Amino acid sequence: MGATARAQPNIALIKYWGKRDSERNLPAVGSISITLDDLYTETSVDLDGDLDRDRLSVNGAERPDLLPRVAACLDTVLGTDRPRCKVSSRSNFPLAAGLASSASSFAALVVAATAARGLQRTTAKLAALAGRASGSAARSLYGGFVELRNGADGVVVESILDGDAWPLRVIAAITEPEAKLVGSGEAMEISRKTSPFYSRWVEEQPMDLATARDAIAERDFGMLASIAEHNCLKMHSVMWASRPPVVYWNSATLDCLQTVRELQSEGVAVFFTIDAGPQVKAVCLPGDEPRVVEALSQLAGVHAVHSSAIGRGAALVSCE
Ligand code: DP6
Repeated sequence: MGATARAQPNIALIKYWGKRDSERNLPAVGSISITLDDLYTETSVDLDGDLDRDRLSVNGAERPDLLPRVAACLDTVLGTDRPRCKVSSRSNFPLAAGLASSASSFAALVVAATAARGLQRTTAKLAALAGRASGSAARSLYGGFVELRNGADGVVVESILDGDAWPLRVIAAITEPEAKLVGSGEAMEISRKTSPFYSRWVEEQPMDLATARDAIAERDFGMLASIAEHNCLKMHSVMWASRPPVVYWNSATLDCLQTVRELQSEGVAVFFTIDAGPQVKAVCLPGDEPRVVEALSQLAGVHAVHSSAIGRGAALVSCE
């Protein structure tokens, strides 16, 4: 039996950084994100008892190096007595470069594996399973504006506003197409253990979440811009102060921030956010999208820009 699912990456406006339980991969803080529309990962899972081992291909190439994490996720979703699986995954955007490819990949994997086995699961359960593999993946099960809260025994994820209700645009400026050197899971642990700012980060997160929640409920772009930029820079400050320091930015990352500041001073409704990589995501109102795309594309260090609307949560494409 086999199934194919599609999931979109999500971009956190209020970030997840740090784990309270690394065994169960539970985040130390809640987070708020928007799920994208135009970027996606499509994953097929075939259950095949005749295979001698699991197989994984990503964008057409065999990737045994990525298999352990995928196999662990399949064990969580299907049980360790599961049949061997052939997994093939394709994304229409660069992998492992700070565009949340692990979020869309694990969200699609969990949905496809569940369907391939003929299991029925609620979206909440699928989100919890995806979160075990990658914290941010839990949010890609839902569309629009999504909040992840820490419950007593795991995460609670819900869509807090439909994308159509506030159709923002996200423009991702790719400043480095190659994979990052330090994965986010590892970098978070370095921050938790060594950054003098880490405990303050965790302490302040409920306030940032509340402000962002209000901004989204009131569709207050200025308020959302201010809290999202603050939360992003605070997260990177935590990383920079870690030992060894975790610095994902390059000079083009800073050029993008400068460009966003210039656009803001010209009255353009735009703000930036940056995840565990050097790419910059500019979030803007739809009418300002062409100006933001043009300004970021012109920068020498920007290799490509991907523009996206806000989209839906992960979904099954087919099941045999
Ligand atoms: C900076 O979800 O990749 O993008 O749970 O270890 O897989 P793991 O981490 P991951 O971390 C994402 C961190 C972030 C912020 C965010 O998406 O909230």
